[in-house]
Amino acid sequence: MSVLTVGVVGKGGVGKTTLAGLIARAYVERGERVVAIDTDSNPNLGLSLGLSLAKTEAVPVLPRSVLVGSGGTTTAEALVNEYGRPTPAGPTLLSAMRVTEAGAGCTCGGHATVRGLLADALTNADVTLVDMEAGLEHLSRSGGTLAYADVLAVVCEPTRKSVITAIRTRDLADELGIPHVVAVGNKSRGPEDIHFFETSFASDGLPLAGVVPHDGSVAAADRADAGGLDAVPAPVRSAIEGVLHEIDRTVAPEGSPTR
Ligand SMILES: Nc1ncnc2c1ncn2[C@@H]1O[C@H](COP(=O)(O)OP(=O)(O)OP(=O)(O)O)[C@@H](O)[C@H]1O
Ligand SMILES: [Mg+2]
Repeated sequence: MSVLTVGVVGKGGVGKTTLAGLIARAYVERGERVVAIDTDSNPNLGLSLGLSLAKTEAVPVLPRSVLVGSGGTTTAEALVNEYGRPTPAGPTLLSAMRVTEAGAGCTCGGHATVRGLLADALTNADVTLVDMEAGLEHLSRSGGTLAYADVLAVVCEPTRKSVITAIRTRDLADELGIPHVVAVGNKSRGPEDIHFFETSFASDGLPLAGVVPHDGSVAAADRADAGGLDAVPAPVRSAIEGVLHEIDRTVAPEGSPTR
């Protein structure tokens, strides 16, 4: 385990990969060593970290179902050293799975490797950030891919369905024993959306770690050749800083200083 392991989860298309890239970048700017793990079988995190498509596709995929840690065949540190690739945004990127062939079977082996990696001592990272594929299967899959995460950040759009997904995620995370779950509102177009996020989560007792505005340059970066933002717009940057601050407060034991 690194000092902090954050899983970025949520309904399809809400902005998990975009925010995972921005959060990873923000931790790097704080001087943290960040490992970012793409667990989507259709991996795009490399683009959000400034790699070209060709370089994103050249990141080697982690071996499936390896036993990581004591009694295993490898360690988290060795996996990062062998399979990790640097990105222009700063984090070291790992790619856990990639579907390249129709009918080739499930991706459970890749999830098992990530689960083991997160459980093992990852001494060459301060923060490990996991960009999850959409849906809830990563919480139901044998043992739960993110069972060793410290905190899940559930990204939501201002839609009821994404909020419902967040509540279901929190309930499953509780069953797995993941200690902290926070919601992150995304693509907010103004006070009405902020109000929607605040009221939706307050009634379900899920802390709202921040609301990221809908931003034209974020969307434009996604259309460009490499999806990384050259300069993060100030309102987005400050929202992401707020999210990091809330994550710090959430994971810090009461009375202890935040990181
Ligand atoms: N704050 C934002 N402002 C504007 N556009 C955004 C913002 N966040 C995400 N988007 C856009 O929303 C779309 C979906 O984003 P992204 O791919 O990050 O979602 P995802 O949740 O990772 O999707 P998937 O479920 O397919 O993995 C992209 O076109 C992205 O540019
Ligand atoms: Mg994604």
